Amino acid sequence: MPVDVLFQAFALKTLTLPNRVVMAPMTRSLSPRGVATEDVAAYYARRAAAEVGLIISEGTGVARPAALNDPDIPRFHGEAELAAWRRVIDSVHAAGGLMAPQLWHVGAVRGRHPTWAPDGPYDSPSGLSRPGHKFGEGMTDEAVADAIDAFAAGAGAARRLGFDAVELHGAHGYLIDQFFWEGTNARDDIFGGRDIAGRARFAAEILKAVRRAVGPAFPVIIRLSQWKQQDFAARLAHTPAEMEAWLRPLVEAGADMLHCSQRRFWEPEFEGSDLNFAGWAKKVTGVPTITVGSVGLTGDFIAAYGGEASRPASLDELVRRLERGDFDLVAVGRALLQDPLWARKVRQGRTEELMDFERSAMVTLS
Ligand SMILES: Cc1cc2nc3c(=O)[nH]c(=O)nc-3n(C[C@H](O)[C@H](O)[C@H](O)COP(=O)(O)O)c2cc1C
Repeated sequence: MPVDVLFQAFALKTLTLPNRVVMAPMTRSLSPRGVATEDVAAYYARRAAAEVGLIISEGTGVARPAALNDPDIPRFHGEAELAAWRRVIDSVHAAGGLMAPQLWHVGAVRGRHPTWAPDGPYDSPSGLSRPGHKFGEGMTDEAVADAIDAFAAGAGAARRLGFDAVELHGAHGYLIDQFFWEGTNARDDIFGGRDIAGRARFAAEILKAVRRAVGPAFPVIIRLSQWKQQDFAARLAHTPAEMEAWLRPLVEAGADMLHCSQRRFWEPEFEGSDLNFAGWAKKVTGVPTITVGSVGLTGDFIAAYGGEASRPASLDELVRRLERGDFDLVAVGRALLQDPLWARKVRQGRTEELMDFERSAMVTLS
């Protein structure tokens, strides 16, 4: 099936993308002491030079003491850290690409470094890392306000450094998603409650503050997921109406585009329709969406963490949905981690040159 639709331009406010291929945010943990290296800049620039329409950076930490859980994940605050990000965006622009940083706070998800501790309190809505698992204390009002400011400061820095858009990491069970999820948000103030609209308030306040920091024309994306790393079967919205109640406040608060994370993009979100998450999110809000999840590969990314390799897979189903207008952009993770030339090869029909995904790609910056 022809892939032309993947290579049509797309415009959103100040952003004009040459095509629909987005590099998905992927943590690399290869930025010693939180400062992105020249190798990191070159890694992104290689994808920019080979026709990726928009690069979304690995998650990068906002200015809260416990925003990250690994000292080698890049930070998005501090003089040396931001100077390094300026080198990254300059390299990407020099290669002809466009890029958004993904602003991240891990909340109560503590990573692979159990011995590494932050120099301040952990943040989470209610001191829960997952339902029933106590971890630290719930955030005070001051901590919530400071975290909102930290995201806004990061977004303002992104614009100042010359990035083309900004993405907020609101998915996968990290801080913003811990607020969305009733399993980890037991607050009874305005940031909690039984209603998803209340639990979306933290994200909405962040989006409003981000919008104030970047102005009306700068594109703001938020990444969202039903699934959590704490529980792959968790769901925030069981019906289209619940999805609308969750997402509409985010759009009203300033989100221009919703990045809808699934492990397999073809899986329907609700019974009775084959629309996926990005399809429903676009339908209930009217704003453009990004889909993601096993594009161009046979296996999914959680299996990849377990060591499973994946083979190249047909793009026909993706193209069919994109042509139908279900979503606007397509994020590609592992296929682009493995092969910087993936987008170019797809456009040129060089399918026999597409590569298997091997776990070894996760530990290098090739
Ligand atoms: C090594 C690796 C690191 C990831 N890090 C992030 C991250 O920092 N932020 C995020 O939102 N998703 C992250 N993800 C998820 C990807 O953005 C993407 O949603 C997932 O890999 C599915 O896409 P794929 O099947 O094309 O790989 C990561 C995935 C991988 C494989």
